[in-house]
Amino acid sequence: MDYQVIIPAAGSGKRMGAGRNKLFIEVANRPVILHTLDVFAYDPHCKKIILVVQSGDESHFKDILTGHPGHEKIEFVFGGDERQHSVFNGLKAASEQIILVHDGARPFIRQHTISRLVQSAHDNGAAIAAVPVKDTIKRADQNQVVETVDRSGLWQIQTPQAFRLPILMSAHKQAEEQGYLGTDEASLVEKIGLPVMIIESDYDNIKLTTPEDLYFAEAILAKRKMGDE
Ligand code: CTP
Ligand code: MG
Repeated sequence: MDYQVIIPAAGSGKRMGAGRNKLFIEVANRPVILHTLDVFAYDPHCKKIILVVQSGDESHFKDILTGHPGHEKIEFVFGGDERQHSVFNGLKAASEQIILVHDGARPFIRQHTISRLVQSAHDNGAAIAAVPVKDTIKRADQNQVVETVDRSGLWQIQTPQAFRLPILMSAHKQAEEQGYLGTDEASLVEKIGLPVMIIESDYDNIKLTTPEDLYFAEAILAKRKMGDE
């Protein structure tokens, strides 16, 4: 089933502390953004990649992307102050019935997860990648434990998040009208009262956020290079 993907890449990577957009940092000798784009470039069902960037970063992204197999199907859109605004800007350039949103900073998503998300979004309207919470979770008040939260039914949410286009569009429009800022797209869809399904993903579908994540990223790529998926 065909889809288009919006890739928000218009952040500034403050927590990474590299002094530039973290998507330009090299992992296994290639910029992070190229690793993220690989799977979409090679997926024939991915009809368009909407890459949302800061205007000041556009020419550097274009340089990096020269010769990349995804080059032909990338459309550049400018981002906003918050991730949600960047995604909304990207959404205005979307046209396929199924739309994925996937963080530029999550370079290890696998094809089989994408395919399952697309199918579930088609069937159910909205589907998001997640993994079961594996740590013990406690609620605390000023560093004093109040309770241990029952872990069953708790999921750690990732991207991609997949939607039928009209659902994601209504969710974003309503959020804008109400001045609501969610931490992911699914929360906007939840707000308009529509169901969101979970597709179990992989623990290594990490987001590169702080400097130590780069060590994990090198390790994940080294493992994949050895063919040990
Ligand atoms: N993003 C975006 N537009 C923004 C903010 C973030 O497109 N205004 C993108 C980032 O480029 C990233 C993804 O959203 O690919 C997830 O955001 P995050 O990990 O928070 O990245 P940054 O915002 O760049 O990092 P930080 O919050 O540490 O500054
Ligand atoms: Mg951010």
